[in-house]
Amino acid sequence: MSEPLRLGIAGLGTVGVGVVKIIRQKTALLTARTGRDVTISAVCARSRSKDRGVALTGYAWEDDPVRLATRDDVDVFVELMGGEDGPAKAATEAALNAGKDVITANKALLAHHGQALAELAEANGAALRFEAAVAGGIPVVKALTEGLAGNDVTRVMGVMNGTCNYILTRMEDAGLTYDEAFAEADGLGYLEADPNLDVGGIDAGHKLALLASIAFGTQVAFDAVDLQGIGSVTIEDIRTAADLGYKIKLLGVCQLTGRGLEQRMTPCLVPAISPLGQLTGGTNMVVLEGDHVGQIVLRGAGAGEGPTASAVMSDVIDLARGTRVSTFGVPAASLVPAKPAKSVTPAAYYLRLQLLDKPGALAKVAQVLGEAAISIDRMRQTAHDDAATAPVLIVTHRAAPADLEQALTGIAQLDVVEGTPVALRIEQP
Ligand code: NDP
Ligand code: HSE
Repeated sequence: MSEPLRLGIAGLGTVGVGVVKIIRQKTALLTARTGRDVTISAVCARSRSKDRGVALTGYAWEDDPVRLATRDDVDVFVELMGGEDGPAKAATEAALNAGKDVITANKALLAHHGQALAELAEANGAALRFEAAVAGGIPVVKALTEGLAGNDVTRVMGVMNGTCNYILTRMEDAGLTYDEAFAEADGLGYLEADPNLDVGGIDAGHKLALLASIAFGTQVAFDAVDLQGIGSVTIEDIRTAADLGYKIKLLGVCQLTGRGLEQRMTPCLVPAISPLGQLTGGTNMVVLEGDHVGQIVLRGAGAGEGPTASAVMSDVIDLARGTRVSTFGVPAASLVPAKPAKSVTPAAYYLRLQLLDKPGALAKVAQVLGEAAISIDRMRQTAHDDAATAPVLIVTHRAAPADLEQALTGIAQLDVVEGTPVALRIEQP
């Protein structure tokens, strides 16, 4: 039998403990599947005394992740601490510089430093793997880098933040306001330490940027993701969308067109009958489209101890078997700089405005839309208690986003419009 594969695990929180448990529970299975033993040499966390609900006997303890990453008895450094810089970055770089393979679940680290780290890995003959960083237990990185490697990927879309999907689902199902649903998610421990990572769309944007790199052979370009969180979505939007046959999702979409790379993570309307429309609670879904395979849909737990540790183990098993795939599917040097799209694919839009309830008000809005070459598909003024203003909802035909921007600017300046108009894209999965 080959030499054991020896891991050093930095981070013994939700994911780290899950990985330790799998390795302890599935010793024989791992050996049978890889042809060698998979062992843990050393672990690291901030607190040595914390009870983590799993035995750590037999593993050396390091207080410093960098020391752990460079130990002679560590073949693979498993980074499960989190954070886009700080110890996660320092220890990952140290491991790669020492020629050790690295597995991480850290989407923030890779969204900001993925290109440099992938180059560092290759310069040192090491592997850098991150299945757990995107959509938790869903093996989407493997699907793109291996299962669909014979395709030109045409589009990737999906719900990649379970917390946001939980909040939106609770607003719809239980009629909660955004603040109430947010508080409920907080009480359940769903929110990241910085909740804006979730509700601001940043966590999901990190994941989308990583998938775009694999899908289109471009360097990770998180800064070019069009990001919008779910904080402005109201219960009225959700109800109206439902009446119109749609659900509102924090949806990520990336596609490469003749205009460049489009990457957006924004609240969107999707048809209620589509797989994405039917996704409820904290579950994730990723829809992949390739020129030969057509469309495939992957659905599953995007977070949590078991699902995320399962994804980490997929990378561990690959390395134990000697399966080595470039970090983003092709050698880092051949990833091309992403050219953000100069203009974005047209779409239908949902608009919500608060309009003075007086003659001619609607005509002024229609005129601005017409001048921007935007055609109205459907329009509705909903019941309202406030005598002075009325909520007006408009669904447009497909419009160029630049034209929509122009119209929104014009509408916001009308003396019959109160507040800022809301515009949500309608995506067709
Ligand atoms: P936790 O906060 O539960 O655990 C973090 C661990 O890292 C803790 O054990 C902590 O030590 C340790 N740690 C933090 N800073 C240091 C440091 N300076 N030195 C040594 N150890 C340190 O995080 P998660 O397990 O939830 O997440 C880990 C990674 O996995 C993150 O990158 C996250 O984004 C990613 N991820 C998480 C998912 C999830 O469902 N939780 C899903 C997908 C990805 P101590 O326990 O002593 O405080
Ligand atoms: N905060 C993330 C989510 C889990 O809610 O999906 C970690 O990726």
